[in-house]
Amino acid sequence: MRYVLIGIAMMVFLVVSLAGFRGDISRKPPLEVFPDMDRQPKLRPMEPNSFFKNGMSSQPLVEGTIARSEAIDLGAGKKVYPFEKDHVAVSGFVKKGETNTVASIPIPVTSQLMVRGRTKYNISCLPCHGGQGDGNGVVKHFGFGAIKDLHDPNVVKLNDGQLYRVITVGNLEGKGEMKGYANTLDVTDRWAVVAYVRALQLSRLGKEEEVPEQFHVKAKPAPNKSEEGEKH
Ligand code: HEC
Repeated sequence: MRYVLIGIAMMVFLVVSLAGFRGDISRKPPLEVFPDMDRQPKLRPMEPNSFFKNGMSSQPLVEGTIARSEAIDLGAGKKVYPFEKDHVAVSGFVKKGETNTVASIPIPVTSQLMVRGRTKYNISCLPCHGGQGDGNGVVKHFGFGAIKDLHDPNVVKLNDGQLYRVITVGNLEGKGEMKGYANTLDVTDRWAVVAYVRALQLSRLGKEEEVPEQFHVKAKPAPNKSEEGEKH
């Protein structure tokens, strides 16, 4: 029994002397059984290095490098980056942690943005929602029904932030039928699509007096006889 106790005491002594007490701080390098990649033949940023001609370890970007993400232009010289996830222009929510969506597009709507929106809409949304947004995309011919008409009053009354959320994570915050397009459309693309969807909706909701005089329809054209009765 005595030998067992002495044995245990020696074991404890051995372990403590090798490993130290818990929480002990030591300046000596720790006992290293496996090297654990503590020391690596790598270059630290901005460290001098003779390997490259310019003597720097951090090399300037190669000409023509494409950025992985684009700053979002808020207008008036202000910018926000896609990784600033709580910003209203990135999340679509007015405040962090709240579910109130922003009423109108928080970035400047320019004709350039509209064109970008049309391009992106025609790539990502048109196959389902159709070129005019009325839910008659090509997928209908392949049995995918129940695509939302974007001129539906319930869609028209969604605010811009809600549209943005639908494009970002899908409808019903990702739990609905439609999935989000955040992996193919960046933040600015998505606001651009919101702007373009608004334009599509306005094309049917606009009043005649909002249209410049020269585009007013003077008289209703007579129905074309040859097309009557034909199925479209
Ligand atoms: C694969 C087909 C498909 C594509 C592509 C698609 N949608 Fe949809 N979208 C749907 C379907 C289906 C619904 C109806 C979902 C439901 O009722 O649950 C819908 C619903 C919507 C709604 C209504 C959401 C609501 O809460 O009522 C909006 C707005 C919308 N889509 C916009 C877009 C935009 C903008 C794009 C392009 C970025 C797009 N969709 C791409 C299938 C698609």
